[in-house]
Amino acid sequence: MKIAVMGQGYVGLPLAMAAVTAGHDVVGFEPDERRLVQLRQGVSYVEDIPDKELREALEGGRYEPTRTEDCLVDFDVAVITVPTPLKDRQPDLSFVEAATETVARHVKDGAVVILESTTHPGTTREVVASILEDATGWKPGHGLHVGFSPERIDPGNERWTFGNTPKIVSGLTPACRDRVAGFYSGITEHIVLAGSVEEAELAKVFENTYRHVNIALVNELGRLAHTLGVDVWRTLALAGTKPFGFTRFLPGPGVGGHCLPVDPVYLTHHARTRYGQAFRLVELAQDINEAQPAYVVQRLQDTLNTRLHRGVYGARILALGLAYKAGTADHRQSPAAQVVSLLEDKGARVDVLDPHVKPYSVHGDTPTVFGPHTIPPLPYGDYDAVVLLTAHDEFDLQRIAIEATYVLDTRGVMPDALNIERL
Ligand SMILES: NC(=O)c1ccc[n+]([C@@H]2O[C@H](COP(=O)([O-])OP(=O)(O)OC[C@H]3O[C@@H](n4cnc5c(N)ncnc54)[C@H](O)[C@@H]3O)[C@@H](O)[C@H]2O)c1
Repeated sequence: MKIAVMGQGYVGLPLAMAAVTAGHDVVGFEPDERRLVQLRQGVSYVEDIPDKELREALEGGRYEPTRTEDCLVDFDVAVITVPTPLKDRQPDLSFVEAATETVARHVKDGAVVILESTTHPGTTREVVASILEDATGWKPGHGLHVGFSPERIDPGNERWTFGNTPKIVSGLTPACRDRVAGFYSGITEHIVLAGSVEEAELAKVFENTYRHVNIALVNELGRLAHTLGVDVWRTLALAGTKPFGFTRFLPGPGVGGHCLPVDPVYLTHHARTRYGQAFRLVELAQDINEAQPAYVVQRLQDTLNTRLHRGVYGARILALGLAYKAGTADHRQSPAAQVVSLLEDKGARVDVLDPHVKPYSVHGDTPTVFGPHTIPPLPYGDYDAVVLLTAHDEFDLQRIAIEATYVLDTRGVMPDALNIERL
């Protein structure tokens, strides 16, 4: 079959490679010229896709990265994997609309169009299907098949990959759902059938909302535990020994990436604006998690005062990690970047070390991120404070523990020592 994957990002590129492996001819449609150049050179910017796999797909002639619309002609299945960000703190579906309009110009009788982007319930029916219907005059299930199948990819996770993570599939009609399921059953191991596209859309956005709320819960617990003089990490480890009815989530400097800070807003905003209904727990979780980077800065400030008798202004601070989680270079909406930015606002001189993120300026023109090195520009002991923000495997925690004057560990991974404080 000819598969068009709209958007070659963290979701679209692995999907395109899986479809190539399954024997399909794949057009990877990508408007970003820089990404396109890299793809054509066989250089992958997605950690889970090695350059070798990309090159083999290109050399085998089954994969064509392009932004030329003519390449989409006669596709059998189009999968939309474009961003669903926030704009002015509100859902921005303009990428989904634009990609659907592009697909609509090339759709043929019998084609299948699937939305994979995370969004609020109603988007597949009211946005994707209606653009396709307006453009073609077809009705879903008659000639054209439309569905939603959320992506659950977890960048850097070697246990749960695109291939073995259960894939929810849905369609606007039973025939649509069968066609969507038929496509995915050839490239993934487990298909889960949803009763409607809205069920599937809500399931996806709720998965991320569930994680967001639980992280907020442990972040708030962490603040309380600190006031009580109790170690929240040990407390959670103890609670985690309960073999039923408890799932362990961990505190940290906040939530980041393309999903957790964004997806719950799709749900809360939709609930409020369309139905006048508040999803209060989620809105509260957003407040707590958004305030977490400032809490980390406050804790550093307190320590500089009490341990070193100095202010943040002019302090030399080493931030370890900028990516939103370990093992990835993705620093979109990363709370680590917010911590660095807040520290710089207060006059601290911050060096950032991240073995995955390329040299980059968080604030101003001077690069503050030293990558892909794992050794800081100054000896660890020359910094007033080290703050561990992302627990990349590459960091030598033992050495840092021995050499640093003081470490604030926001991930709970450092060894126990007098110079180390956990969030
Ligand atoms: N990254 C994740 O871990 C993850 C996991 C599950 C779901 N999702 C969801 O999947 C969607 C995509 O996320 P991502 O991380 O792959 O984003 P991304 O930004 O890495 O990739 C999206 C790509 O789409 C391209 N694009 C923009 N407009 C386009 C258009 N009109 N036509 C074709 N391509 C276009 C962009 O240039 C970009 O390369 C989002 O809705 C996200 O919430 C992401």
